[in-house]
Amino acid sequence: MIEIDERQYKTPLFDALVSLAQSRKISFHTPGHKSGKGIATRFVKFVGPKIFSIDLTTLDEIDSLQKPTGVIKEAQELAALAYGADTSFFLINGTTGGNHAMVITACDPGDKIIVARNSHKSVLAGMIFAGAMPVFINPKVDKSLKLTLNVTFEDVKEVIDENPDAKALFLTSPNYYGITADLERIIPYAHKRGLITVIDEAHGPHLKFHPELPTSAMEAGADMCVQSTHKIIGGMTQSSMLHVKRERVNISTLRNVLKMAQSTSPSYILMASLDLARMQMATEGNKLLSRALELARKARKSINRIKGISCFGQEIAEESGMGGLDETKLTITVKELGLSGYEVSQILNHRFNIQVEMADPFHILVIVSIGDRQDDLDRLVKALRVIASENQGKESGPLGKFKLPIFKSKMSITPREAFFKKYRDMKLEESAGEISSEIVTVYPPGIPILIPGEVITPEIRDYLLQISKLGATIDGLPNDDNSLISVLK
Ligand SMILES: Cc1ncc(COP(=O)(O)O)c(C=O)c1O
Repeated sequence: MIEIDERQYKTPLFDALVSLAQSRKISFHTPGHKSGKGIATRFVKFVGPKIFSIDLTTLDEIDSLQKPTGVIKEAQELAALAYGADTSFFLINGTTGGNHAMVITACDPGDKIIVARNSHKSVLAGMIFAGAMPVFINPKVDKSLKLTLNVTFEDVKEVIDENPDAKALFLTSPNYYGITADLERIIPYAHKRGLITVIDEAHGPHLKFHPELPTSAMEAGADMCVQSTHKIIGGMTQSSMLHVKRERVNISTLRNVLKMAQSTSPSYILMASLDLARMQMATEGNKLLSRALELARKARKSINRIKGISCFGQEIAEESGMGGLDETKLTITVKELGLSGYEVSQILNHRFNIQVEMADPFHILVIVSIGDRQDDLDRLVKALRVIASENQGKESGPLGKFKLPIFKSKMSITPREAFFKKYRDMKLEESAGEISSEIVTVYPPGIPILIPGEVITPEIRDYLLQISKLGATIDGLPNDDNSLISVLK
């Protein structure tokens, strides 16, 4: 039996909002729509009037995110208690804002930060803001699945040992595919070497609440982590949380950075959704996640019975030195069908009305969550059966020659210095040997292929050319057909 802390049933911010909305006080303050009375009729007709009555601004009754002393303070304290942090912060600019704030807090200008190469572009942006110098660790690649896993303990240890002057270690765990790094070994080692440990746990706000999910960052002893509550559990889009422990991090500095990084008009709807999502996880997360796990496990089994496609399970983590796998993520390998993940994603969308989270050249990624039903997964499995049966024995075409990028990052200046230097646009085809002036990512997952200050190797140039042909969305190239790239003058 999981014991539930009675305090976790409380939702102080949501209750205060409802109570203020019901008091029907006359508003001579922002927002200008005045509880929905000024909202376009079509909008109100579609969503109903109530949501606008809690779209309020900083007022005595509902506290201030910039300087919380009331219900927001209480709601954040309950979140810290639930997640095992000393302090938790509500974020209304997603994990993006949290990553910016964590890097700026951990690093002074010029500081070295050891960072996994599979970090989201917001981590790189944090380094541009902070003026920090990255030292990259490449994640392990599964050559047969053609999938980027996470970093191994051994690789992290090697980079830490080679960089005794580094200030912080920044990892992403779980990665987009739900694969965690072995934080229980990595974090104590990094601490022994005097590093602040910072984890982008965008895909892990649920981990803490189920024993069959991998260990969460806070449980593994991380100093700071940020979670996209909106991606996986009940937060509304853009709502995230940042958790921190005080031993190695100056929480006042972090608070001040967040005050600069966050809006002074935070959405109370987003913050209320964080209050409720925490309550939901802390009080019934175990039951809800058991159901999501059961749905995902059943679907995984059925998918693995379909000829030509597969979906890995826990064995991937055990065999490759990872921490674990969040089994609610289904990474479906489609390469045997001679179709790219992008093509399968398009077929699922346009023919079967099924939208997946992400595609890459060889896989599609399906997120199963507390919001899914058996019927949804049955429809997915059925559709995959049809697609597989129609594409047996097809040639792999351009996919056969496709190679995952090899990162051999060489940085002579910080990303910040490179970002502010003069640049020119040139043909991507002719760019090998030049220095990138932009963050170039394939989106999703938004992992940088190039960062400002990094040399464009022939392998990276070829990778961008190939992936563009396959139909990936590339962010950071200056024109729509991806034929140009911005390089330092
Ligand atoms: C690993 C990772 N970190 C950070 C982000 C950014 O999170 P948000 O969309 O909450 O700003 C993403 C988004 O895809 C992500 O995958």
